[in-house]
Amino acid sequence: MSNDFESTVWDALKGVKFPGMSRDIVSFGFVHQVQAVAGTVAVDLQMATHNPAAGEKVREEVERTLRALPGVEAVKVNIQVVKPPGREEAAQKAISQDANLIPEVRHVVAVASGKGGVGKSTVAANLAVALAQLGHRVGLLDADIYGPSVPMMFGITEKPRVVGNRIHPFVKYGVTVMSLGFILETDTPVIWRGPMVMRAIEQMLGDVEWGALDYLVLDLPPGTGDAQLTVTQRIPLAGAVIVTTPQKVALIDARKGLAMFRKVNVPVIGIVENMSTFVCPHCGETTDIFKKDGGRRTADLLETAFLGSIPLDPKIVLGGDAGVPITVAEPTGPHAEAFRHVAEAVVEEVARQDEMKPRLSIV
Ligand SMILES: Nc1ncnc2c1ncn2[C@@H]1O[C@H](COP(=O)(O)OP(=O)(O)O)[C@@H](O)[C@H]1O
Ligand SMILES: [Mg+2]
Repeated sequence: MSNDFESTVWDALKGVKFPGMSRDIVSFGFVHQVQAVAGTVAVDLQMATHNPAAGEKVREEVERTLRALPGVEAVKVNIQVVKPPGREEAAQKAISQDANLIPEVRHVVAVASGKGGVGKSTVAANLAVALAQLGHRVGLLDADIYGPSVPMMFGITEKPRVVGNRIHPFVKYGVTVMSLGFILETDTPVIWRGPMVMRAIEQMLGDVEWGALDYLVLDLPPGTGDAQLTVTQRIPLAGAVIVTTPQKVALIDARKGLAMFRKVNVPVIGIVENMSTFVCPHCGETTDIFKKDGGRRTADLLETAFLGSIPLDPKIVLGGDAGVPITVAEPTGPHAEAFRHVAEAVVEEVARQDEMKPRLSIV
């Protein structure tokens, strides 16, 4: 049961950062239970880390923070530090270097959603640009067999150059880009069979000159099908970013997407809530269209990180249609800032999961 005071405690805990990170212990999902009875606060924490000192640091910080709250007389902190999977066990799961189609890519981040139309491609494109703006070497692969949209969002209409049997991707807005849309004929209804999907995705990974990258962002088709499976079998994924919108139905879909990645042992990096608030084009005021903080609550519920929310704004549609993502069109505006926030959260979460699971890849 929770009460008002317990929510005050939760809020206070959001001010406690995980050592060495700028994210807090609540958003990392480390706080499992809070109980407050007559001035005594008991907090249960569970975290997986290779750094034993981190547990003690967090304990001290939690005690200090909660003692400072008015009405708190005693604080009990129960910390369970779980040992992340051992290197041997993880290595078995790792894809062998021969099978890995893109050994020069350090982190592959899949952007996924339970259903179409939630802004998955918009998030993937702007996340890629935002990561590049933060100084990383970034690639974007549009592997959405049902509706590749990166050619339009990046304003690229040519076909990629093929030299020998290597495909040369485009570089635009600081991002190395490749899309199935560059290769498919437009207007051809695409009927894909499993093996075709597999082959196409393998080709987009293995036959493309990606070069050395820090992050490769994948725009995957919605749902859970052959494309997702191929990806999880042929390249080590750092994890999946699940895009959702604040409506209840979309959240249920997000839950399905999450379950699928967990089933194939792909860590879920976290949830991005898209089209959450409305920014008035006339006065600039922000209005919550749906219940506030839905994305954060869903992330808590699904025990994953909340990576941020992106406002609903017609400017985002215009940018996407004109081939100039909002992060490029207005790099200092509020939307770009929202995407930058998501990009930073992704970088941190990937780093944290790397530390937790040193070589964990997939299946
Ligand atoms: N935050 C946003 N505000 C306004 N429109 C958006 C936003 N995100 C996406 N859109 C628009 O919604 C439509 C669907 O987005 P898209 O990224 O193509 O979704 P998906 O890849 O999930 O099918 C596009 O027209 C896009 O411009
Ligand atoms: Mg799309």
